[in-house]
Amino acid sequence: MSSAADQINQSTPRNAPKVGKAVKTALEQGAQNIDLSKLPNLTDMSPESITQNVHAINSLCEDPRQKFVFEKLVTHLHDFAREVSLTTDEWMNAIQFLTKVGQICSPIRQEFILLSDALGLSALVDSMNHPTKPPATEATVLGPFFTEDAADLSHGDSIASEGKGEYMYCEGRVLDVDGKPVANCTIETWETDDEGLYDTQYSDRSHPDCRGRLHTDENGYYAYRLVKPTPYPIPFDGPVGQMLKSLNRHVFRPAHLHMMFVAEGYETLITALYFKGDPYLTSDAVFGVKSSLVVDTELIEDDARAKQLGFKHGPFHYLKKDYVLMTKDQAEEEKKKSLANYYKSIQP
Ligand SMILES: [Fe+2]
Repeated sequence: MSSAADQINQSTPRNAPKVGKAVKTALEQGAQNIDLSKLPNLTDMSPESITQNVHAINSLCEDPRQKFVFEKLVTHLHDFAREVSLTTDEWMNAIQFLTKVGQICSPIRQEFILLSDALGLSALVDSMNHPTKPPATEATVLGPFFTEDAADLSHGDSIASEGKGEYMYCEGRVLDVDGKPVANCTIETWETDDEGLYDTQYSDRSHPDCRGRLHTDENGYYAYRLVKPTPYPIPFDGPVGQMLKSLNRHVFRPAHLHMMFVAEGYETLITALYFKGDPYLTSDAVFGVKSSLVVDTELIEDDARAKQLGFKHGPFHYLKKDYVLMTKDQAEEEKKKSLANYYKSIQP
């Protein structure tokens, strides 16, 4: 039986270069064996013709979604290069920059996600994939600091150990879009301490702190103690930090309180609250802030009330906040609308 390489040689003119060992070995080792007669002619590329020709060869892809994504990727990438008249030096700078982004990544550092965050891509993808319709609570980025090991807490418990920051008390209800309570909803919540650090950023972390797992009661009610989170910088000692510096941008995120809601039959909601008056509220380095997620806390000086709620003393910041979840069907409907262009493009 003749090999794939022999078949290629048989179909080429006698005086053409013969396929030899390099190609034979690659084909034997699993390189794609494509019927060359079915490929478009890809010679004489010009800035005008290259895009259509890349589309032509990529159109052999059998996965319709991948084919669609690559067609758009190539179109926009080529248009970008043409629109900015990309120079060879700039292209090489970009290659070297991406190389550095990859080199600084480690099991605990993901510079590519940081790059995506800083370019607004993470916020865009998150918004498109988790669209909400009022009165549902808007979603925002998960961030890299969620852990699975938070302790289960009862109503009124504290997620933060003593001395981690200014006292805060948060209570409210989890509801569906019709205002009915969502009972037995699991609420994961995590935040920075007043140093602007998550517990996972301490090398001597012995147990979860400033994070907890709450459960709503039959009325959808939740309540817990925490500390008021503080603003913090994203990692800025790598290529993304250098990029932001060159763009004359700061590296700070406004203070925020992460929340994740998981309830049977409902779309999981990943969101965060931001605080009125924060100096970085309107220029979040990773574009996570949405106006509907900005809250104002009340400073309560009453010592007796503070002690009643479980604090050692006053004052404390008080926040009453309800959240509204969509069912899985409602979320799916919104997602389809958000991805309408794609769905339109795959209609027969
Ligand atoms: Fe965060």
